[in-house]
Amino acid sequence: MQKTLPILENIDTARLPQAECDGPASVYLETYGCQMNVSDSEIVASVLRDAGYGLTHDPLQADVVLLNTCAIRENAEQRVRRRLEFFRARKRKHNTNLKIGVLGCMAERLRHKLLEQERLVDIVVGPDAYRDLPRLLHQVDETGQSAVNVQLSREETYADIAPVRYDSNGISAFVSIMRGCDNMCAFCVVPFTRGRERSRNAGTIVRECQGLFDAGYREVTLLGQNVNSYRDGPVDFATLLYRVSLLSPELRIRYSTSHPKDCSEALLEVHRDRPNVCNFIHLPVQHGNSGVLQRMRRGYSADEYRALIEHTRRICPGVSLSTDIIAGFCGETEAEHQDTLALLADIRYDHAFMFMYSERPDTYAARKYTDDVPKEVKKRRLSEIITLQKSISHENNQKEIGRIHTVLVEGASKRSKAQLCGRTDTNKMVIFDRGTLSAGMYVKVRITGCTSATLFGEVLAG
Ligand code: 5AD
Ligand code: SF4
Repeated sequence: MQKTLPILENIDTARLPQAECDGPASVYLETYGCQMNVSDSEIVASVLRDAGYGLTHDPLQADVVLLNTCAIRENAEQRVRRRLEFFRARKRKHNTNLKIGVLGCMAERLRHKLLEQERLVDIVVGPDAYRDLPRLLHQVDETGQSAVNVQLSREETYADIAPVRYDSNGISAFVSIMRGCDNMCAFCVVPFTRGRERSRNAGTIVRECQGLFDAGYREVTLLGQNVNSYRDGPVDFATLLYRVSLLSPELRIRYSTSHPKDCSEALLEVHRDRPNVCNFIHLPVQHGNSGVLQRMRRGYSADEYRALIEHTRRICPGVSLSTDIIAGFCGETEAEHQDTLALLADIRYDHAFMFMYSERPDTYAARKYTDDVPKEVKKRRLSEIITLQKSISHENNQKEIGRIHTVLVEGASKRSKAQLCGRTDTNKMVIFDRGTLSAGMYVKVRITGCTSATLFGEVLAG
């Protein structure tokens, strides 16, 4: 009898296609963290499949379990640890041949701990070493010893690897356009876990997007830690976006994530001029106070950021904006926290990702500052931020009632099979009756109701 697994807090497990186990072993891959990791897992799946491995969505049937990990905040790491302990216990009791691997952002930082001190895993592979996975798995088989490759690269972009798409809806896909980050924001561990910034060849990106369109996809999200600093020879991000937008008017283009300091005029013009470049920009501000932004080493002041938003709204009328916010960064005073609330109230983002500051080893903040805002205060400030933003999102959504949007149908709604869901150009999720519609169609929907997170609508005939 199969055991029931604890509920998994990851993104893609349920969407992993079940493949025949036709190779030397069957691999179960679980992904934590950001969209970039989802995209990386698609590359890992491709590397493994080409080496003859099968993929399974059932961890209890797998010979190899790989967790693609996130290190951005401490609780992300703790979640992975608990999961590793679960698999280690399983290995001891039920399947001594099971191989357990850690991929991605936790690999570099924790390899000694995971391999030697705690003996939690057999394989540790960093984000630039996925091509080496088949060799490492083979090595573990042959020697019975653990295997590691956490070498970071200045060149690797996996440009030539055709990702195995997990996305069962076949409509939206992630396309990785660059890797790493050179920004060194004081709080962020990404430059240490993912290494230096490098851009993927533009031709391979455009070809991948064309291939996706030909295969029926209708939306691509171009991914990088800081897409605005993309550069391949003369091709900068605005040019790349423009080129991808020419592939078909039926292909919607989004991207994530941008840094405000690199948001160029040319990029805003592409938003303005190309209807299929979605009228939505994620522009992480992180904080509303210039002193804190300086301590965070973000490279802009609160006023400069506000001016950028004003300018963006002037060039791209109706643009939808989202952001990232950190509460309780080192030395944050009550007055500084109030500045974040004031900025949110002024800008009125449609959506925000909001976090409590979590000190990360090696970062500038960990080395130079003290993580001195008490946990209780961080929690209270974060909850004030969330409460405010939720009411703003709700009010923004209420203004949508009565408006008509073109929605790309993505698939069944989570709540009911009789309903479908899809997003507006402005990245708002809409739920509506199925009728005779199917995924991949563009439909006109009149908005009839909302929550702070979702719109409800009726499909217009024709
Ligand atoms: N603590 C809390 N949030 C963080 N982020 C990055 N590093 C940290 C940290 N140490 C947030 C930032 C970033 C998002 C991806 O994660 O807001 O934009
Ligand atoms: Fe981290 Fe800053 Fe780079 Fe974003 S831009 S990945 S927050 S260092």
